[in-house]
Amino acid sequence: MAKKEILVTGGLGYIGSHTVVELIKNDYVPVIVDNLCNSKTEVLNRIETITGVRPEFIELDVRDEAALDKVFKAHHIFAVIHFAGLKSVGESVQKPDLYYDNNIGSSNVLLKVMKDNGVKNIVFSSSATVYGEPKRVPLYESDPIGETTNPYAETKVRIEYILKDLAKEDPSMNIAILRYFNPIGAHPSGLMGEDPRGIPNNLMPYVTQVAVGKLPQLQVFGNDYPTPDGTCIRDYIHVVDLAIGHVKTLIKLEEKPGLVIYNLGTGVGTSVLELINAFQKANNIKINYRIVGRRPGDVPENYANCDKALKEIGFKAQYNIVDCCRDSWNWQKKNPQGYND
Ligand code: NAD
Ligand code: UFG
Repeated sequence: MAKKEILVTGGLGYIGSHTVVELIKNDYVPVIVDNLCNSKTEVLNRIETITGVRPEFIELDVRDEAALDKVFKAHHIFAVIHFAGLKSVGESVQKPDLYYDNNIGSSNVLLKVMKDNGVKNIVFSSSATVYGEPKRVPLYESDPIGETTNPYAETKVRIEYILKDLAKEDPSMNIAILRYFNPIGAHPSGLMGEDPRGIPNNLMPYVTQVAVGKLPQLQVFGNDYPTPDGTCIRDYIHVVDLAIGHVKTLIKLEEKPGLVIYNLGTGVGTSVLELINAFQKANNIKINYRIVGRRPGDVPENYANCDKALKEIGFKAQYNIVDCCRDSWNWQKKNPQGYND
């Protein structure tokens, strides 16, 4: 049987690149499109070193309908995994137009081009952020979404609505909405990982940059939350687990399930201080940190119930927080300047 071609938008980014590796390992043929606004082509060399395969890459903006259509015409695409998007919460507050245009605009163009070319299967990168401030944890897929606190989150909610409407309008579509919790970690080879621009917003890249000496000190945002140690609790999931979750989702789409929604997390909550301690222990490195005030918009506790993904796609995270800390550090120390091409 011919191998299936999977269009991966944003496939040179952090989660996309790890997913491309798992796709190749599972005998799919990834076709990557990316506009390089938050990634580098050096990723292609790394993918090739890990897998022995250099995936096809077309530099384009997903909002460019003509360019995207050309890619569909030149391939026999079985499914699209739609990672392309901007993801900085802070930037989205400063530049809401950019986020609405890029994230929603690219999704609209993609769906139109899929329709024009008769492609029926899509996996969409949503986020735990769609749940807003949780009324209770763990979070179930059936919990209400909306009531977001920033434009980034709002784009994810609105794209979910667009996809749900599409599922009603066209029952032949197969749509998987994946709500990621907090992806961290890196490929165990140390060849691929997260390469944020400028000063990181997220906890793990900040920790690794302090560990490698690029940043002097980590600030822990608040220790007066109603949690056991007072710091916020999140569900950190290894990026390779997340990548494997996409392969399992593609297999599900072959059953033509219509619309499906899964939380992709571990089901385990870890506080900021627990993460710092795990990092120190796993890597035998001291992290210089101090407690400061709360960061606006942070919710105290956020972790997933993952029963649905286990039951329906056989997904269960294999890596624990120590593995995540080891692999994040392995990537950072081998690539102190990131991909740097
Ligand atoms: P990333 O920035 O590393 O990857 C996104 C990729 O998309 C980048 O390579 C970027 O260049 C590309 N891109 C952006 N806009 C584009 C456009 N209009 N056309 C073509 N390419 C475009 O981010 P990531 O962490 O890999 O996240 C992937 C997806 O998962 C995003 O949609 C993000 O919102 C979502 N997500 C991420 C997290 C997280 O914490 N990393 C959590 C939940 C959801
Ligand atoms: N934190 C610090 N110091 C830092 C950075 C973060 O103490 O320098 C704390 C935060 O206050 C929070 C925790 O570490 O309590 C995790 O923060 P992150 O910024 O790493 O992650 P968030 O949970 O805030 O958000 C991330 C992504 C969102 C995504 C969400 C999904 O940034 O885009 O996970 O749950 F939607």
